[in-house]
Amino acid sequence: MPSKFKPAERLKQIAPSGIRRFFSLAKELPDIINLSVGEPDFTPPSHALKAGWQASQEGKTHYAPTNGIPELLEALTQRAYRDYGLNYNPSSETLITVGATEAIFSALMGLTNPGDEVLVPDPGFVCYAPCVALAGGTPVFVPLREENGFKPSIDDVMSLITDKSRVIILNYPNNPTGAVLSFDEMAALAKVAVEHDLIVISDEVYEKIVYDNAKHYCVATFPGMRERTLVVNSFSKTYAMTGLRVGFVYGPEELISPLWLVHQYIVACVNVLAQHTALAALEGSQDFVKKMVREFDRRRHLVHKRLNEIEGFNCTLPKGAFYVFPNVKHFGMSSEKFAEFLVKKAHVATVPGSAFGRYGKDYLRISYAAAYEQLEEALNRIEKATKKLKRTEKAF
Ligand SMILES: Cc1ncc(COP(=O)(O)O)c(C=O)c1O
Repeated sequence: MPSKFKPAERLKQIAPSGIRRFFSLAKELPDIINLSVGEPDFTPPSHALKAGWQASQEGKTHYAPTNGIPELLEALTQRAYRDYGLNYNPSSETLITVGATEAIFSALMGLTNPGDEVLVPDPGFVCYAPCVALAGGTPVFVPLREENGFKPSIDDVMSLITDKSRVIILNYPNNPTGAVLSFDEMAALAKVAVEHDLIVISDEVYEKIVYDNAKHYCVATFPGMRERTLVVNSFSKTYAMTGLRVGFVYGPEELISPLWLVHQYIVACVNVLAQHTALAALEGSQDFVKKMVREFDRRRHLVHKRLNEIEGFNCTLPKGAFYVFPNVKHFGMSSEKFAEFLVKKAHVATVPGSAFGRYGKDYLRISYAAAYEQLEEALNRIEKATKKLKRTEKAF
């Protein structure tokens, strides 16, 4: 007899990530150049990997405290003081999570009630809206418009706030646009959060990956913000440790406690060997990060310049993260169709902007976390393939 099994009703509100779809398509073609995935193509610093291995030899393979190993919690609070001048208690105001992903999920599960509205960026990182929906909340999309440098306008934010608004998710430097907020822009958002009593979940995983004269401002440092902000961060991007799954959150005890409770029941604790690897990465030389960011910068200029030389692309120069987000509407097809076209005809995998929300529909996300030579080859292929598009197929 066939099973009557059906997935839970709550899953009707979410769909598989559009990034994974293009990542899977990419795997089907042997010569594909994959610019769809958001992870550095670097190997983590060797001293960090050695520390993880060393920990395994010392038998550090048992459960750790739910919130994290004390040495890493302590090092993280020192980091917060060093980088932001903020004091967090290591045992009650800091939590080590399974990447930023779990931190965001646990935070939303711990802090939102059915009917609560959560302001999320659009385009925005793929997990925000589904996590809000799984937590029973309602995502409210804040448009990030190209004409505004992909930054939220205060008027838009104000117009979307209602008496049900409870949380706003910020993500600077931003995925997928690479936008970074100035001091004044962050201050203006902070003021809105204070005035409307919003909790802020600030996803700062690209904090260390900024270019030119751009500076990252942690939103918790603004007046009235420490007490209402969860600062979410991760070792994934800064130390090229995406597969080790170590993230962390700072916040006041009232906001960390609910998150901790969810975290306790879904993960128990974070992989201990990975925590030791992360600890060594944090305490050792930071030259690795500097070198990686220098290399990303070189690639950023290459991709930005070459794309703008190809008829049909319109690409702004991002100030952070490792993505460009060119406007491709001149090609006269949806970003989904255009990304498929690039897979089939150029053998280059990217992600359609529509995977990041409605306001991303005219764009393509191209990750430049791939080797320089691969990027050169990908851009040659894109140029060749798009030249072959009949003029009538292009809207220019
Ligand atoms: C903005 C943003 N937040 C969070 C994550 C997930 O990070 P982690 O690997 O720490 O879960 C990503 C990964 O691409 C991201 O781009």
